Amino acid sequence: MRLETPRLFLRTFQESDRPTFIAYRSDPEVAKYQSWDVPFSEADALAFIDLMQQAKPGVLGEWYQLAIALKTTGEMIGDCAFCIATDGKQAEIGFTLATMHQGKGYATEAITRLLDYLFLECHLHRVCANCDPENVASVKLLARIGMRHEGHFIKSLWFKDYWASELWFALLQEEWLTIEKFNPLR
Ligand SMILES: CC(C)(COP(=O)(O)OP(=O)(O)OC[C@H]1O[C@@H](n2cnc3c(N)ncnc32)[C@H](O)[C@@H]1OP(=O)(O)O)[C@@H](O)C(=O)NCCC(=O)NCCS
Repeated sequence: MRLETPRLFLRTFQESDRPTFIAYRSDPEVAKYQSWDVPFSEADALAFIDLMQQAKPGVLGEWYQLAIALKTTGEMIGDCAFCIATDGKQAEIGFTLATMHQGKGYATEAITRLLDYLFLECHLHRVCANCDPENVASVKLLARIGMRHEGHFIKSLWFKDYWASELWFALLQEEWLTIEKFNPLR
């Protein structure tokens, strides 16, 4: 699978992504609100990349993760993921960028393309995402791409030894078709 944006490719993981993947997954700031612990081991990276190379996108109920790479250099800068629910009409998304590549609009550009894929190519009805309310960059990203804040669950998730709260965002296909899209070249 390979999706293209003005500055990025969203593509299947490659073996050569491993050092970069380990480096940003081992960054405590990147991992703070994510499911994995730091440091992220060589063995975990090998297993993950192997799993993603075998995986097929769009298998209902299973997460599929895409590497985000710069078109100019081919360098992997992060990843994004989606899981189409067992109803075949809704999905959840997630995203991560290495710290040095944050603040440049890359995540907005990648997730905009991912939403185009899910709504226009997979014809999904609804896409949702959640994040910790303290994860300001993530909240801003979800708002920037036009997702609606739909819920705030208080201390609803036992996560890394504390009860985390969750903000839930969602968007319908009919809304995606009408909102003005992010343009990185503007
Ligand atoms: C969530 C995350 C991907 C957001 O990354 P990000 O770099 O803030 O988002 P973008 O790449 O879209 O960049 C947007 C920022 O770049 C700025 N920017 C600079 N050049 C830009 C350009 N050409 N186009 C658009 N925005 C640009 C924007 O103004 C914005 O900055 P602001 O937030 O200060 O207003 C990142 O913080 C991350 O990976 N966090 C760790 C993992 C994580 O927690 N993931 C989410 C779990 S729910």
